[in-house]
Amino acid sequence: MNLSSPTNFAHVLEHIEIIRSSLRWVSQLDRPGIQKILEQVNTLREEILVLSRVERCRQTLTEETVEPMSVLQRRQVLSAFEGVFGDNPKLLEILETVEKAARTDLPILIEGESGTGKELLAKVIHANSRRSGKPFISVNCGAIVGTLLESELFGHVKGAFTGSVKDRKGKFEAANNGTIFLDELGEISQENQVKLLRVLESGEIQRVGSDDAICVNARVLAATNRNLYQMMSEKKFREDLYYRLSVICVTLPPLRERRDEIPLLIDYFCDEAAEKLNRSPVKLSFRLRQFLLNYSFRGNIRELRNIIYRISCIADDMADLKHLPELIRPAPDSEHINENPPVVTNPKIDEIRKIASGDAEKHFLEEQLDAAGGNITALAKHLNMNRSYLHTLIKKRGINPKSFKRRKNP
Ligand SMILES: Nc1ncnc2c1ncn2[C@@H]1O[C@H](COP(=O)(O)OP(=O)(O)OP(=O)(O)O)[C@@H](O)[C@H]1O
Ligand SMILES: [Mg+2]
Repeated sequence: MNLSSPTNFAHVLEHIEIIRSSLRWVSQLDRPGIQKILEQVNTLREEILVLSRVERCRQTLTEETVEPMSVLQRRQVLSAFEGVFGDNPKLLEILETVEKAARTDLPILIEGESGTGKELLAKVIHANSRRSGKPFISVNCGAIVGTLLESELFGHVKGAFTGSVKDRKGKFEAANNGTIFLDELGEISQENQVKLLRVLESGEIQRVGSDDAICVNARVLAATNRNLYQMMSEKKFREDLYYRLSVICVTLPPLRERRDEIPLLIDYFCDEAAEKLNRSPVKLSFRLRQFLLNYSFRGNIRELRNIIYRISCIADDMADLKHLPELIRPAPDSEHINENPPVVTNPKIDEIRKIASGDAEKHFLEEQLDAAGGNITALAKHLNMNRSYLHTLIKKRGINPKSFKRRKNP
């Protein structure tokens, strides 16, 4: 037995198996036989001691670094939100709120700058609601003006206006028993605000040109990149409508306030783009990665996603600054152009701990994946972890699980 090889539970189990089979097949034990088994048991004891030291060390680290552990636990709870990547504490808080609200029929208002994931979150809420098997109907209130929006939302009857040659259902009716997502709600006219309020209060709509009331049961989600509260104080948005729609209100933080998620999102989009473009995931040069980690994404996650798709399309194996869109590419003499990783002088203990625990986590995951032959489902079972969370961790640490798949013998 080689004690210098890294000890893990797989090794211990393997050695236990060896001892068990030696004992199972032996008919009688002589002194040398007993001696051999004793040696094996002693080595096993050593291994277990090493493992228990590692475990105790891990527990101490966890107790000291409360934040990563609580993030981990919270992420596990939020496993249903698989499509939304990120583990920034602010985002997790939002996911916790909407996960509870998703199961109810309460309206939810999602605020946030353009590209922060409002529509994605609305879809995820619907997918995690009791209405998930029913339609999710999205209406871009900013793109349709005045009376056209009214007809879009509530439908019209034949002859209601020029060109209305037949009856037409509106989006509220289409969303019956499902969810209607009112995107860019801040753009809706005062007139339509009144009509919307009436529907929310009565649960009935009237098609344009008709006096008949039709009952609708649509759960309302709304999103805006404007500050509705301020618009309300400026009398640009009705107070009654605001309070009706914002029973649950969450604000998605811009990417510059959740920079800790950029590496995770980069990996996620690199994989996504690789799959869509039928190529292997593009690698990022150190200076390109540094640039992206520091860049202020005005277009938020959408901008990051577009950049990754662009570089995945035009770069070969390794993408560099030259593959960035010209508008944002740093000048050749810029400070971003550093070939080598910067030497950290006077590092902070927190940073060192973060790096060390990240490395330890990566090492642990690689070892486990290796033992599981790259099978994430089996590994999740083995570690008693949620599969999607484990998958997120693996991606976050930049590990390619496929590289651990065992080749079949020819
Ligand atoms: N947390 C996330 N994980 C993975 N992808 C994300 C995340 N957030 C946003 N995206 C992706 O970023 C893009 C923009 O998201 P989305 O359209 O939901 O933003 P938005 O806030 O509705 O933007 P806008 O205000 O411009 O309509 C989409 O491609 C979405 O899939
Ligand atoms: Mg949107």
